[in-house]
Amino acid sequence: MNFELTDEQKMARDTAREFARKRLAPVAQKLDEEEHTPRELYAEAAELGFFGILIPEEYGGLGLDYVAYCLVMEEIARVCAGFQVCLTVHNSLVSTALLKFGTGEQKTRWLPKLASGERIAAYSLSEPGSGSDAGSLKCGARLEGDHYRVNGAKTWVSSGDVADLFLVFVLSDPARNSRGVSCLVVERSTPGFTIGKKEKKLGIRSSSTHELHFADAKVPATNLVGAPNEGFKVALTQLDGGRVGIAAQAVGIAQGAFDEAVSYARQRQQFGKALTEFQATQFKLADMSMKIDAARLLTLRAASLMNDGKRATREASAAKLFASETANQVAYQALQLHGGNGYIREFPVERYFRDARITEIYEGTSEIQRLVISREVLKEAAEAAPAPATR
Ligand code: CAA
Repeated sequence: MNFELTDEQKMARDTAREFARKRLAPVAQKLDEEEHTPRELYAEAAELGFFGILIPEEYGGLGLDYVAYCLVMEEIARVCAGFQVCLTVHNSLVSTALLKFGTGEQKTRWLPKLASGERIAAYSLSEPGSGSDAGSLKCGARLEGDHYRVNGAKTWVSSGDVADLFLVFVLSDPARNSRGVSCLVVERSTPGFTIGKKEKKLGIRSSSTHELHFADAKVPATNLVGAPNEGFKVALTQLDGGRVGIAAQAVGIAQGAFDEAVSYARQRQQFGKALTEFQATQFKLADMSMKIDAARLLTLRAASLMNDGKRATREASAAKLFASETANQVAYQALQLHGGNGYIREFPVERYFRDARITEIYEGTSEIQRLVISREVLKEAAEAAPAPATR
């Protein structure tokens, strides 16, 4: 076991830290207020290669590993979680889907443009009637010659305002339910495809969240990713990697809230001394710091398993569950340390408190993570030992 980062991983982390400090910190509050991120800011992140972190160099990406990816995601979310959402969806939910399941032609068609950030990608699984029970989706796709005819609606789609292509999960064989789901790339310009309502959210406000509508949308059959009717496995495989990205986001939010708490507690004087001189503050900071460490270690362990090409379903869910609960606990305590000042928008801790909340909801709620972990643990137990005799 080696906890040392490689030079490459350190360089990726430091580049992201510098970008976040110089370019995001001055505007993070404004982006939150305006509920929008201008495309130019994404273009600056693209210049640094942040849209192609996991894409191999042969397709124009940085070709870095999942550990470097998580370090970059953490540093960005530490300053502006809303900005990071677009990057994490693009990198670990969509680009790697094309790498793992795409044909050679699809890789050369889309990956170079995704790697350069010329095109931004979004992931679309949820529907108004299908959230945690993702396999019950209804948005239908019928194969008609050389294209799929798609009808229905999708919801909770991050980056809906800026995305150029959408990885969409559709029901291609209604008789087979989740075993009749296919995965399609839908280009923004597809006839019959429209971007719907923008949601007004509690947190991560600089990231836009939209509905998608399909009315006889014609999607070329060559945009099918993976085998027909095997799309649900693509969706769940991608969520393993996606959940590691959200775990890194949660670690970043927790670290950012902690940074604010330390800075405030050092300068705020009450009863004639700084807050940091009270044991009540010191113990709070100790607990916060310990939990952030544990969340980061779980996240990097899952990332490291993914580097080895191993399935990391349980580890990804554990990292996401623990890190998201940590982000909420740490942001809560950081706000508490600010007292009344934590409750107003003048201090960034209020934004961290709101941003933390979503990490326990998207890419699978905490309840779904517990379900995934318990299923995996019981599967491992059953494989290790035959079922005990019933009493
Ligand atoms: N990797 C690969 N295959 C997997 C897998 C994984 N992690 N997990 C399951 N599978 C396979 C199973 O082996 C099964 O295969 P067979 O058909 O051959 O048997 C198939 O996939 C179906 O699996 P399940 O029977 O376990 O499926 P289920 O219907 O019981 O659902 C679930 C499982 C865990 C509840 C799943 O529906 C789930 O994760 N729900 C939460 C949905 C979610 O996370 N949504 C996030 C939306 S995206 C988002 O938020 C993005 C954003 O914008 C930020």
